[in-house]
Amino acid sequence: DNKKLAIAIDGPAAAGKSTVAKIVAKHLGYVYIDTGAMYRSLTYSVLKHKIDASNHTQVVNHLHKITIDIDPDQQVYLDQENVTDDIRSDVVTNNVSAVATIAQVREEMVLRQRKLAEKRGVVMDGRDIGTHVIPDAEVKIFLVASVKERAQRRHEENQQKGFHSDLEQIKSDIEQRDKMDSEREVSPLKKAADAIEIDTTSLSIENVADQILSIVQQKMGNDE
Ligand code: CDP
Ligand code: CDP
Repeated sequence: DNKKLAIAIDGPAAAGKSTVAKIVAKHLGYVYIDTGAMYRSLTYSVLKHKIDASNHTQVVNHLHKITIDIDPDQQVYLDQENVTDDIRSDVVTNNVSAVATIAQVREEMVLRQRKLAEKRGVVMDGRDIGTHVIPDAEVKIFLVASVKERAQRRHEENQQKGFHSDLEQIKSDIEQRDKMDSEREVSPLKKAADAIEIDTTSLSIENVADQILSIVQQKMGNDE
């Protein structure tokens, strides 16, 4: 029987992390963990309770009072309430990076994430998984794509859902979020020294998933 690995997938917004992470996890029979959903759930709750996000102590105290659970089919629960759709709203998307810059928020999230990754057999995606959450992950992938392509992907998702969508607005929102995520002091978005970078700009989802799976196979072979 093969040893179970930890696979870290990081990169900027809409690079394709969650889409390919799910495929890779399913293929390997691993658990997929979406850490972005955890930061989004906290942000949703902070907004709902009208907590001032610039008051770091209040935000951290609030985090200690809430539970965030993600079930195997990716339904997200905040204290038992299903918030799967709510956490993808524009208002959450435009506030999440500010909440995610708070050092004590990140400390607590990382504790929760490491607990989930303890038993290996996980594919975890986010911004700091390879650099900070699981620095000893056996496989580290850094997905990138041009901002034009990433904005186009989100735009198409919105249109498919029948939502109003403004391509230029999406592009500037993505650029602003990437900038905040990359420039924050605590565990910023950054490629780990030992991560493999894949530029997905002109690649299909299947192609990206296949590349990652072959990196995983190679790793398993080497360790035998
Ligand atoms: O799916 P999308 O790229 O829009 O974002 P996400 O993965 O849901 O993450 C939302 C936000 O949470 C990011 O823009 C980061 O500000 C924050 N985040 C983080 O700081 N660290 C992580 N490991 C995951 C997400
Ligand atoms: O998780 P992250 O924000 O990095 O991105 P995502 O939500 O997985 O992917 C964003 C969109 O890009 C999805 O609608 C995917 O279907 C699409 N995508 C693509 O068109 N080509 C790829 N190689 C990967 C994702």
